[in-house]
Amino acid sequence: MPDFVATRRALLTGAAATTASLALNPRLALAAPPSRPRIGADPVRLFSNENRYGPCEGAQRAIRESQSLSSRYASLDTLNAMKQRIADLEGLTPEHVLLTSGSIEVLTCAAAEYAAGGGRIVCAKTTYDVLPVYAERIGGKVHRVPLDENQVHDLAAMEAAVDADTRLVLVCNPNNPTGTLLDSARLRAFCESVSARSTVLVDEAYLHYVEPAPGLSMVDLVRAGRNVIISRTFSKIYGLAGMRIGYALAQPAVVKRLLELRMGLINSTGLAAAYASLEDQAFVPRMRKLNAESRKIITAVLDETGMKYAAGHGNFLWIALRADQLDLPARFIPHGFSLTTVPTRPIPADVSALRLTLGTVEEMRTLAPLLRASLKA
Ligand SMILES: Cc1ncc(COP(=O)(O)O)c(C=O)c1O
Repeated sequence: MPDFVATRRALLTGAAATTASLALNPRLALAAPPSRPRIGADPVRLFSNENRYGPCEGAQRAIRESQSLSSRYASLDTLNAMKQRIADLEGLTPEHVLLTSGSIEVLTCAAAEYAAGGGRIVCAKTTYDVLPVYAERIGGKVHRVPLDENQVHDLAAMEAAVDADTRLVLVCNPNNPTGTLLDSARLRAFCESVSARSTVLVDEAYLHYVEPAPGLSMVDLVRAGRNVIISRTFSKIYGLAGMRIGYALAQPAVVKRLLELRMGLINSTGLAAAYASLEDQAFVPRMRKLNAESRKIITAVLDETGMKYAAGHGNFLWIALRADQLDLPARFIPHGFSLTTVPTRPIPADVSALRLTLGTVEEMRTLAPLLRASLKA
């Protein structure tokens, strides 16, 4: 595979060689310029839970108009304006808001805060594992609790696993990779009880994909002064994964501590795009509806072919595979679909499941008959 990360020296050497060969052979100057790898020109990527529709028009405009910002660090005024905007939307103060470089940074900061020095963390066994893995790398102890038979967080078992040494409890809702959603009242009772003994972090990266209902988000617990951190992102439904904007909502003292652990600064263009995204009230419901339609197209195929899958509420589905289906991703390469990061590599037998990102309705209409044929084979 070509190495696309050219070193400066290689680029200079290459440029000098090209100039020299053009001087020797002027006919070469008429030839097409050497093709460069086109970053982003890829198959239909259905493995990172990105929004295949991209950002709203306002965000796209903001990205274009803020090009001049790319030479500058994000200004304090813009950062404050964004925190104020989020705080207003959530009924909190700007001191409750931590802006981060993607919500991964909320997770790594929380790991650094609570796991350093051997801090104990409780989380689900099958969940988005950036935080627990990071925690382990810095010497934390992670206790992983298996999901229940419906692939949902087993809150009773998680609560029972919280001991005096536990510093953080992580709940991802909807969960990644299963997409399963917890009952709000049950999760709220869990957070109320556990947050009296430990910090609770609720990762709501995919909550926008769930039909809104009162009390769906656990943010009211932050409002009520509980020891709860909510993690959110502009990478998923807002379609800004490459812009790297996420945020946490937490008690001001927690925000202060996490801020001290942040490793980078905030992308100035991303900030403009995220701010503009919040102005478009119609975008999120429209994306949610389209995602539900895409999900329906794929679940119809899965039902028809007798496949088992978790009740998914995000923009992806967690599909159980049989031993003879572990090569499924490779079968879609010729059709222009990338189902896993390395589609040529079979899914490991101990995983035996595919997390399929839902693309646009049109993409899913193209994928559906191919998937049906493949699963029936
Ligand atoms: C559950 C969950 N949380 C957090 C993230 C981090 O995303 P980002 O850093 O782009 O906000 C992801 C990304 O896939 C995710 O699935």
